[in-house]
Amino acid sequence: MRMYDIIKKKRDGDELSAEEIRFFVEGYTAGEIPDYQAAALCMAIYFKGMTLAETTELTLAVRDSGEKLNFEGVNGIRVDKHSTGGVGDKTSLVVAPIVASLGVKVAKMSGRGLGHTGGTVDKLESIEGFRVTLPEDEFLAIVNKVGVAIVGQSKALAPADKKLYALRDVTATVDSMPLIASSIMGKKLAADDDCIVLDVKTGSGSFMKTLEDSKTLASIMVGIGKAAGKKMMALITDMDRPLGEAIGNSLEVKEAIATLNGQGPDDLTALCTALASHMLSLAGQGDYAACEAKVKQAIADGRALDTLAAMVKAQGGREDWIYHPERFPQAPYTKEVKAPSDGYITAIDAEGYGIASLLLGAGRNTMEDTLDYSAGILLKKKTGDAVRAGETLAILCASDEKKFEAAEARFLEATTIGAQKPEERPLIFATVA
Ligand code: URA
Repeated sequence: MRMYDIIKKKRDGDELSAEEIRFFVEGYTAGEIPDYQAAALCMAIYFKGMTLAETTELTLAVRDSGEKLNFEGVNGIRVDKHSTGGVGDKTSLVVAPIVASLGVKVAKMSGRGLGHTGGTVDKLESIEGFRVTLPEDEFLAIVNKVGVAIVGQSKALAPADKKLYALRDVTATVDSMPLIASSIMGKKLAADDDCIVLDVKTGSGSFMKTLEDSKTLASIMVGIGKAAGKKMMALITDMDRPLGEAIGNSLEVKEAIATLNGQGPDDLTALCTALASHMLSLAGQGDYAACEAKVKQAIADGRALDTLAAMVKAQGGREDWIYHPERFPQAPYTKEVKAPSDGYITAIDAEGYGIASLLLGAGRNTMEDTLDYSAGILLKKKTGDAVRAGETLAILCASDEKKFEAAEARFLEATTIGAQKPEERPLIFATVA
């Protein structure tokens, strides 16, 4: 088999065989296929697409390119949730403890943030002492005892994706549906869950800008997961504005705690309730309505918050901060961003808010950058809200006052104020099962 022929076949729009796809993924991971040939194939896939059978095979080859997790030692059904990434998305910190408090296990591998989106692992590291790297036996023991543990992605999982993603990033081939689907699902399937709920974001703050593309991506990923024997479903949810009111690591953890206390922002609470209910339902805990009632009860009686605290304690973090979020270190400097004119917020470029937060120190431009955990943005107004000139739109938080100027400019650039109240967008657009 020759890589040249595989590239040519895809360039001409033909379907690759399972053997050809495996030849490429295995050869590229092993360093036997050079970057220029892999890049040419990615570009051919970008233009010609892939069938579901090809995309599934690519996903399985990515999954099989490295080590796999074995959760057989976990007692009970294992469920996971994966978000395609957004600004202010702290849902994992809320739904994982809710679901675990109701008897379904969550053994979660999460990523770090890069660019305008944050990562769950970074957020958890804003809790003093919290360990995101655990030996596998300890990880599984915590899942069994507490119901949930969240750790960072181990380097050995899906190494093909690591290489391919880096290549796609510099060859303008990230936004290809089959490449995205196989990248996300290849990593997910390397973990050993029974059920997966996908939260596919749509809108300015996500990499799927249109509802149609988001639905297509969701159905491809659901199809792949089912073909691999998982129980799957996906929600298509709004990322035309940030989720909740907090952007930035410890600010988001504190908002997740408030949500588990029943005092979170409406949009975050609604989305977490929906995700957790679907996770439980997929795991066989009853129909959606019954699961939703259980979720609300677990928040109301404090069980879900106690589960988060127990996980934090088991992973070495300051459990007391979960009950006393005022103990999180606060940014020494704050600055209020004022509305430049009267009107309604007609649009928010969520990606722009993510970048403003990054400029304050909450995010990374490169994997080597260090984070300022207390930096970020607290939103006071979101899309649809009426504003008066001079009214506070948001509070910027940073450890260095010099960061405010650029962050404020980026924030205002991402905020559109107009005369007409905009039409309301739903939080959940569709369900793909
Ligand atoms: N997230 C991933 O893990 N992979 C992609 O290709 C895009 C987003």
